Parts: sequence; structure tokens; C-alpha cells
Amino acid sequence: MTYINKFSIRGKTAIVTGGAGILGSHFCRGLADAGASVAVVDIDVQKATEIANSITKNFEVKAKGIFCDLTSEQSVIEMVESVVNEFGTIDILHNNAAGKSSNLNAFFAPFEEYELDQWKEIMSTNLDSMFLVAKHVGKIMKEQGNGGSIIQTASIYGVMGPDNRIYDGSYYYNRQINTPAIYSASKGGVVALTKYLATYWAKDGIRVNTITPGGVESGQNETFKQNYGNRIPLGRMAQAEEMVGALIYLASDASSYVTGQNILIDGGLSAW
Ligand SMILES: NC(=O)c1ccc[n+]([C@@H]2O[C@H](COP(=O)([O-])OP(=O)(O)OC[C@H]3O[C@@H](n4cnc5c(N)ncnc54)[C@H](O)[C@@H]3O)[C@@H](O)[C@H]2O)c1
Repeated sequence: MTYINKFSIRGKTAIVTGGAGILGSHFCRGLADAGASVAVVDIDVQKATEIANSITKNFEVKAKGIFCDLTSEQSVIEMVESVVNEFGTIDILHNNAAGKSSNLNAFFAPFEEYELDQWKEIMSTNLDSMFLVAKHVGKIMKEQGNGGSIIQTASIYGVMGPDNRIYDGSYYYNRQINTPAIYSASKGGVVALTKYLATYWAKDGIRVNTITPGGVESGQNETFKQNYGNRIPLGRMAQAEEMVGALIYLASDASSYVTGQNILIDGGLSAW
């Protein structure tokens, strides 16, 4: 009996949505490193294609950048069809994309002034998209009859409220930031959708789990990094690559008896 081989996903095909993002590119490379072929799905197909090309250069797997606007069901249907045509099967789905907004003033507006249109736009990108992709990929996984693993990315603010004191003097790319309520509400929905699908698809051998990142260092100013780090038992923000181990675990047979769970990768924030 070997144990470490259970972490291998060699020969499997994975879809990563938001694969061109800060965390997404690490997720795609991590799955490729563990042996899976990867469909790098993003609305930014140029960046997705660059990441796919770097994967085929560095790992002995197939990879392709595939366009999708995850808020459109037609676009999701076409994306799933092209993954099946290109790769043959879908064994792993990482529902990972999330969006801010083209209008950052509206996105970061105070709750009392928050526009319903803005709320709906973010809900559509962060939660409706996960429903649509899970719906169309889950159907294929059921037809294939070999089970599957679905992992959905939530956020620490989907399981706990933000400590708004950490945003004093905190800037991200020169903009005063906060965590809008829609972000928390949509991510809380992701955790709930995971639990629902875990029991719904258990009889088909499809496991569904959540990974919940805490704050990842990616261009925040020193004040924010310090304020955030002071709230964290491990004393710092996360590095993007620290999110990948949990994904490989959940994607692989190493977690064959794990479904409906949420792995919090938060430096201990939720343990205080
Ligand atoms: N970075 C963090 O600190 C952090 C913390 C907690 C949770 N998360 C979560 O991790 C996940 C990845 O975060 P990230 O930091 O890589 O985000 P990111 O903004 O860098 O990447 C998101 C990707 O999704 C794509 N996308 C957005 N809308 C889309 C649409 N309609 N159709 C297709 N693609 C679309 C974007 O083009 C982008 O490449 C997200 O779910 C995010 O909420 C991130």
C-alpha cells in the first residue's frame, strides 16, 4: 500500500474557472504538477492561453486556454462542449472565478448606498456562475459514470464578518478598500451550494468541497499588510502558492472519503 500516490491525478482532466487570475494561475499549475491536463477557463482568453502554453512547456500534460463568460449559460454550455471535444473527459472541476466590477466606486460603496444592480452583477459572477458550471459539468460527470471531484473557492468573508478596523489607511493599487457585503453574501452562498451538491451527488460518486482562502498578498500597501497580519495567528498574509496543497488534496483520491467540507486556509484567523 502506498499513500503518497493517492495525491496523484495523472491522466485526469481538470477545468479551472478564473484560471488566468492571481490564484487561478497557481491552481492550474498545481493541478498540472500533480499530473492533470488542464482547461484554463477565463473571460481573459489571451492570459488563459499564455498560462496554458507555459503549462505545456513545463509539465507533461495537455493544457488549453478556453474563453467563457461564466455569467452566460450559453457561454458555459459552449465552454463545456469544447473541453469535452478537446480533452475527452472531465474529472475535476475547480469553480474558482470571482469578479469585482468595472465600476470600483460602485463596488466599494458603503452598504447604505449600495446599488441593487451592482449587487446583482457581483452575485451573477460569484455565485450564479458556480451554479451554471456545476450544472453542466455535473451532468457530464454523471454520464461518464466515474464520479468526479468538484472544488469551489469561497472566501474567509463567506464564513466570518470582516474586521473593518483593518481597512484604516489601507490601499490596494491606490484605492481605499473594504469588503462589500455582496462579496460576503455571495461567498457564503458558495459554501452552502457546496454542501447541497455534496449530498445531492454523493450517490454518483461526485465529491464536492470548498476551499476558503484568507487574504493573499498581491499589491496591498504596507499599512494593510501590517493591519491584516496583526489579526492573524500566523502573523502575516498568505502567499498565493499556499492555497494549492488543499486543492490537490481535494482533487485527488487522497480525499476519497471527504465531501461537503470547507478547508479554511486562513493562517488561523477563524481559530481565535
Ligand atoms: N486573492 C485573495 O486574497 C482571495 C482571498 C479570498 C478568496 N479569494 C477567492 O479566490 C478566487 C480567485 O481569486 P483571485 O485573487 O485569483 O482573483 P482574480 O481577480 O485575480 O481572478 C479572477 C479571475 O476570474 C476571471 N473572471 C471574472 N469574471 C469572469 C467571468 N464572468 N467569466 C470568466 N472569467 C471571469 C477574471 O478574468 C480573473 O482572471 C476568487 O473566487 C476569490 O474570491 C481570493
